Amino acid sequence: MHNLHNCSLTAKNRGDKSPSVVDIRTVPGPFIFSMCKGIANTAMNAKIQEQIIRLKEENNAVILAHNYQLPEVQDIADFTGDSLELAREGARVPQQLVVFCGVHFMAETCAIFSPDKTVLLPDETSGCPMADMATGESLAALKAQHPGAVVVCYVNSTAEVKAQSDVCCTSAHAVDIIRRIEPGRPIIFVPDKYLGGYVSQLTGREMIYWEGACPIHATLRPAHVEAARAAHPGAPIFVHPESPLTVSALADEVLSTGQMCTRARQSDASTIVIGTELGLLHRLRKENPDKTFVPLSDDLVCPNMKRNTLPKVLHALTTLTPVIRVEETLARQAAHAIQTMFADGVIRPRNADAQPAQ
Ligand code: 13P
Ligand code: SF4
Repeated sequence: MHNLHNCSLTAKNRGDKSPSVVDIRTVPGPFIFSMCKGIANTAMNAKIQEQIIRLKEENNAVILAHNYQLPEVQDIADFTGDSLELAREGARVPQQLVVFCGVHFMAETCAIFSPDKTVLLPDETSGCPMADMATGESLAALKAQHPGAVVVCYVNSTAEVKAQSDVCCTSAHAVDIIRRIEPGRPIIFVPDKYLGGYVSQLTGREMIYWEGACPIHATLRPAHVEAARAAHPGAPIFVHPESPLTVSALADEVLSTGQMCTRARQSDASTIVIGTELGLLHRLRKENPDKTFVPLSDDLVCPNMKRNTLPKVLHALTTLTPVIRVEETLARQAAHAIQTMFADGVIRPRNADAQPAQ
């Protein structure tokens, strides 16, 4: 029988870097239990991961994962990235079957932009509460009040909202998109008021905002930044532009999750404070083992992003469900905003001839 008293816990098992050995008799019972459970989970995960990789090859599928996905899901993905990178990658990959580990709007954007591909979302219920804060109908009503305005939708939006929009943007290039809008045009920005406000500050373009925000990033406060500065003097603080403007104003850099990965790699700092969903820490630590990453707040967890568990990824590859389908006419209308985002040139409303710039 396995004798717990004969085993010693190395510090490495506990996740820290010192090489000391711990006397197991001094370790509290609940910790031993959770450690053993952890080992069992790791063995189970490895087994499921093996099956996923085999089925992925048999089905000639590709697995794309957002930077907030569970660590064990990120580890089996062919590509991990931010919304912009995933939208590009979904269209670029030769595979016809895409297992999209993210939230619903991401898989839907992939299905709209690559209508010839089959897109699976392992947990269909993984929505984005911010995306659901705007409906196509309510956006149409706002547009009617501002004829001639360019409608910019954050990619965190439904197909109905994209279908009502002139261009889409992600946090990685929202500033570039706003700079492409014809001068003199009013701009409606939907649904993230914080991203819109941040981009407005950088571009000097006024906007009509939607009253939407990410419930996770919206919990950040200037006090989090002040506490991190005091606890980690000299460490750069990165925050996501979905954060309140009072927080972005105090940060050293305001970046998409993909940009955070790039800047962390380039940075000479040994410690970096990260103001976004905690899932990104897995990738940052994996890619930069010599650096320390500290969360700006321990509460930054998006439960929807954690719904795509390994068993669900395996189930998706076994049953080839759930497929994300977008009705054809709606998909065609929504594709316009995504195609305009990836094109060059000045952005005007779709029916610009009828509504000249002011
Ligand atoms: P990124 O595009 O920066 O990965 O952000 C997506 C998102 O949902 C942030 O909450
Ligand atoms: Fe939506 Fe916020 Fe979750 Fe991103 S972190 S998917 S914006 S709820």
